[in-house]
Amino acid sequence: METYLVPPGEFKATTAGSAVLEAYLGSCVAVSLFDRHALVGGLVHIVLPQATREKETLFPARYASTGIPVLISEMLKLGASKENIVAEIAGGALILTDQKLSVDMNIGRRNSAMAEEILIKQGIPLISKATGGRLGRVVTLEPGTGKTDIRYMGKKLSRIGLPLRLKKIELEDFKTRIESLKPVPDRARRVISMLEFSEYGPVDLENYVLKDQAICANVLKMCNSAKHGFRHKIKSISRAAALLGLNTLKDIVLAASKYKLYDKAPPGYSTQEGDLSRHSICCAMVAELIAHQKRLRDPRVFYTAGLLHDIGKSILDQYAFENFNLVMDRVVNEAKTFLEAENEILGYDHTQIGGIAAMEWGLPQVLVEAISFHHMPEQAAENSEVVSVVHVADMICSMFGAGSSPSVGAAQPQQHALSTIDLRAEDVDNIIEQLPHVMKRIEGLGN
Ligand SMILES: [Fe+2]
Ligand SMILES: [Fe+2]
Repeated sequence: METYLVPPGEFKATTAGSAVLEAYLGSCVAVSLFDRHALVGGLVHIVLPQATREKETLFPARYASTGIPVLISEMLKLGASKENIVAEIAGGALILTDQKLSVDMNIGRRNSAMAEEILIKQGIPLISKATGGRLGRVVTLEPGTGKTDIRYMGKKLSRIGLPLRLKKIELEDFKTRIESLKPVPDRARRVISMLEFSEYGPVDLENYVLKDQAICANVLKMCNSAKHGFRHKIKSISRAAALLGLNTLKDIVLAASKYKLYDKAPPGYSTQEGDLSRHSICCAMVAELIAHQKRLRDPRVFYTAGLLHDIGKSILDQYAFENFNLVMDRVVNEAKTFLEAENEILGYDHTQIGGIAAMEWGLPQVLVEAISFHHMPEQAAENSEVVSVVHVADMICSMFGAGSSPSVGAAQPQQHALSTIDLRAEDVDNIIEQLPHVMKRIEGLGN
């Protein structure tokens, strides 16, 4: 049967015979409603509990306070009767309870509490609830039967069916192995055909190159090589275009994109194909957004740092993707964070691998630090602002599953990072409110 994905901040009401409704949830909450007499159902994907009246009018489905009433009225139009409707709630995961945090990040809990309150107000009985915990969920609603299926994201692993056997590579060995990183072949092919057969300017180049962390990393590596002899390291593609000239940059992009172009795409060190790539772009966009919001200098550098922060995962993916299942198994079954599980199983984690690669490639210090310390921002030596922004952007994207399926085993943002960039509660709400828009842009990029 066909599936209709309900994105964050949106809703869908359906009748029997239509597509199955599906939503991926991290801190977001899905409320599914069903009238078993009229066989009319619906699902709303809630991002935040409530907002100002103006925002609720513009984007009602984004908030629990307005999203549930909007879904009910849509269902009534399709023939449902309010007294026959029952509700189920899922999501609201990654509940963070650290009292030391100045910003209340308990968004998952606030979302589900508000959803329950609204259901009581509307007189709709809640027949099941699967909220909280640390793992993202997938919820599906079958129109016609009202059957709601809720499962953990991590459980998908068993269906991948890869053997749970450790492929041991010593940390030291990565230094000799890391040469270049394979870009996603489809995207590399697109970049090459654009550059070879069309007239494209620096803006197009930046927009296309910056979509792929592997191409971006390779381009920066080549730009920063001794051959070009720049005194200062190049930290963003737009800077590279200005310094090298468009034609030289095009040559570099071509060379970076051609690397092992026709190899099979790596699985992506993630539960679903494409997750890592979407997560990287999402983190890049959110990091740039924070930089703009806090009026920080050179927002494009924040974008690049966000895009490359998990480059260590791409490398692990190319050399030992089998180990991803082992790591995830521990995350799902022993409630570890991803980083903890990596360290226990591999003896190192993706930040170390990424850091080694970034240094071997001669990337600027700011990128080396963003890659090495995005999970421990207090360790940043010179670039604590960029590292803190990338850390917060990463945590927010993981909590909400923005740009990918919700991360399992996500951790909370650290107080140190929030204070470094003076991020307050209203700033965080503001970023979260823009996530649906960010995700739409990512979908529009055709990843
Ligand atoms: Fe990471
Ligand atoms: Fe990440």
